[in-house]
Amino acid sequence: MIKKDISREEIKQRVLEFVVANSKYYSEYEANFILKNCLWGMNSCFVPDILRQIYDDLDLLDDSKNIYNGFIDFLRQNFDLDQDIIEVGGGRTISGIAKRIALGQNKGTVTVYDPLLFQTKTDIPNLILKKKTFFRKTNIANAKLIYGFMPCFATKTIIEAAADRKINFAVALCDGYHERYDDIYSDYSWHDDMMFLAEKFIRNNDLGSLGVTDLKNYDDPYPVLYNKRLSKFKKIVYNKNLKK
Ligand SMILES: C[S@@+](CC[C@H](N)C(=O)[O-])C[C@H]1O[C@@H](n2cnc3c(N)ncnc32)[C@H](O)[C@@H]1O
Repeated sequence: MIKKDISREEIKQRVLEFVVANSKYYSEYEANFILKNCLWGMNSCFVPDILRQIYDDLDLLDDSKNIYNGFIDFLRQNFDLDQDIIEVGGGRTISGIAKRIALGQNKGTVTVYDPLLFQTKTDIPNLILKKKTFFRKTNIANAKLIYGFMPCFATKTIIEAAADRKINFAVALCDGYHERYDDIYSDYSWHDDMMFLAEKFIRNNDLGSLGVTDLKNYDDPYPVLYNKRLSKFKKIVYNKNLKK
């Protein structure tokens, strides 16, 4: 949600300047959509990705109502972020999620993949930007966590890539409409399919159990999927029970 003390005129002006400065990266349709809907974030934390990236980049959002911060809190609570991490589908602007994680790291790096990235230069030494598509077989060296925030088509790729390497993953799902166009899925069955897929890969690769949470505090109706590792203690008890 946009900070209460920013006026409608200021929002319109700053978004317009942003779109003009970056016009080569947007189609005419996209630019029109952004300008027409630039006040959307005054009433909701949950806005289309093309808008939330601009709001975040321009620092227009209230920190406590910025959905990227909600996702980072969730990652912090569930994973060690002081290690090499991959973000898939960070968006066109420098991912606000990756940037904040990288700034908070005591060690490790965050590498972001997105073919739509505007730029690949950053002042943050441990933040690496790759203007590339991420594939299941992409070489990610020693990374220990792959995450995506509404990465659309790459949801499945993230789960498969993490499972192949037996490393952790977390994905905030989007609406799934992109899959619906090919008449295979409704949005809800797409969510179910992603859950079944995640559960199967977690089970077959000893990644713990399927964790499902949400970001409903940020008006996001869709689930967040991740693998929940057993603690060392629980693992010993679990293995003992298995042997009985
Ligand atoms: C809905 S946008 C979300 C962007 C950003 N995470 C956000 O929340 O604002 C999905 C992004 O995923 C990217 N994407 C989709 N498949 C990808 C892949 N295989 N590798 C890298 N990026 C991908 C798209 O280019 C797009 O920028």
